[in-house]
Amino acid sequence: MHTTLEALNFSIIIQQDTYTIMKTALITGITGQDGSFLSELLIEKGYDVHGTIRRSSVDYRERIAHLEGHPRFHLHYADLGDSMSLVRVIGKVRPDEIYNLAAQSHVQVSFDSPEFTANIDATGVLRVLEAVRLCGLADTCHIYQASTSELYGKVEEVPQNENTPFHPYSPYAVAKLYGHWIVKEYREAYGMFCCSGILFNHESERRGETFVTRKITLAAARIAQGKQEKLYLGNLSSLRDWGYAKDYVECMWLMLQNDKPDDFVIATGEQHSVREFCYHAFKHVGIELEFIGDGADEKGVDKATGKILVEVSPDFYRPTDVVNLWGDPSKARKQLGWNPQKTTFEQLIKIMVDADMAKVAVEKAGERVRTNLAEFLERGIVK
Ligand code: NAP
Ligand code: GDD
Repeated sequence: MHTTLEALNFSIIIQQDTYTIMKTALITGITGQDGSFLSELLIEKGYDVHGTIRRSSVDYRERIAHLEGHPRFHLHYADLGDSMSLVRVIGKVRPDEIYNLAAQSHVQVSFDSPEFTANIDATGVLRVLEAVRLCGLADTCHIYQASTSELYGKVEEVPQNENTPFHPYSPYAVAKLYGHWIVKEYREAYGMFCCSGILFNHESERRGETFVTRKITLAAARIAQGKQEKLYLGNLSSLRDWGYAKDYVECMWLMLQNDKPDDFVIATGEQHSVREFCYHAFKHVGIELEFIGDGADEKGVDKATGKILVEVSPDFYRPTDVVNLWGDPSKARKQLGWNPQKTTFEQLIKIMVDADMAKVAVEKAGERVRTNLAEFLERGIVK
């Protein structure tokens, strides 16, 4: 027999004489890469999962489409720029845990839309925290804030850990720095259980198509299948510490189960260049690249045919670029028992390339939206 009771701030499932407290989580940014993996994880752990979505004129919920209809999965309209919508949804759901993942998350786009980025990525965090207080949940609700390795920006130390000074180097990073500090402030001023995960880049087969890793794996698949001629990229020498998003959402959850609120660096502890990522992705589809030349003249050439498959386009250069991210996840490993190397760099690339090979294989000429995006990406029209 299954009976669900609404009681105070949580529900109780009575199942054949065993009583389990079911926690309620609210995820902002549930339609994003991380939101979709976190939803799956929390549902698996028995949570009642609520998420905020925005109205859009097109269907953008493909990452969570498979969860819609699940009895413990619920969606609500809210926007981080709209305090009233946040108060309404937080007051209605009364979550035990909030994962604030919503953001304008593209660094290059933040140079084109700096004010919107600040409104959502900086003030938006404040709106969530205040909504929790206004709803009387300050003493009970655990809050996770999606901070970022971009805070280290023009890096002052390599590798970076929780004590490395911040030096944000884009409108996105400056906005996220406000989010980071306001979380710390609310923790100290009001004793709230709120923490920031300083996450280094994490990727997956669900990564947005304009982030460099996904742009590369999609292009490698399309080029291998004769559906794209060339891939144009920006700074090939940029260094990142890339992990698998599915592993990283587990650490978000662990942070909220900790006995005290604290901030953690989440990274693999390994660093690679964009060029290396590109080399391995193409290798996985059977193309060995050789990089020749320097700077904007550098090219990735197919060793077997001599054809130029990768070129540099200054369209993808940023006014200021973060070029040396490398995280030290020792604290998360020791204090949370999290394994930073569950998925290796090569395994991550394999997961992404295999998924894109399958996706591209069923791409039909008539599927204009996706085909256009790939063409625009190739020609540097979409950043
Ligand atoms: P993502 O795929 O771009 O997802 C962003 C989410 O935020 C989407 O659900 C988006 O909704 C939502 N959103 C954007 N503006 C909003 C607004 N005004 N109100 C409400 N929701 C809004 O990002 P992600 O890769 O999953 O990253 C999740 C979070 O972690 C972000 O805060 C990001 O900045 C941060 N982060 C990411 C990484 C990484 O490597 N992935 C590393 C460090 C930190 P729509 O679908 O409606 O656009
Ligand atoms: N997007 C993109 N496109 N980046 C390129 C390209 C290109 O064609 N060519 C080179 N790059 C370089 C960028 O200049 C940057 O140095 C690096 O590749 C990574 O770029 P992105 O994949 O766009 O990610 P990001 O590091 O700027 O930002 C991501 O990671 C942050 C954590 O460090 C985002 O997910 C942020 O939301 C997140 O905070």
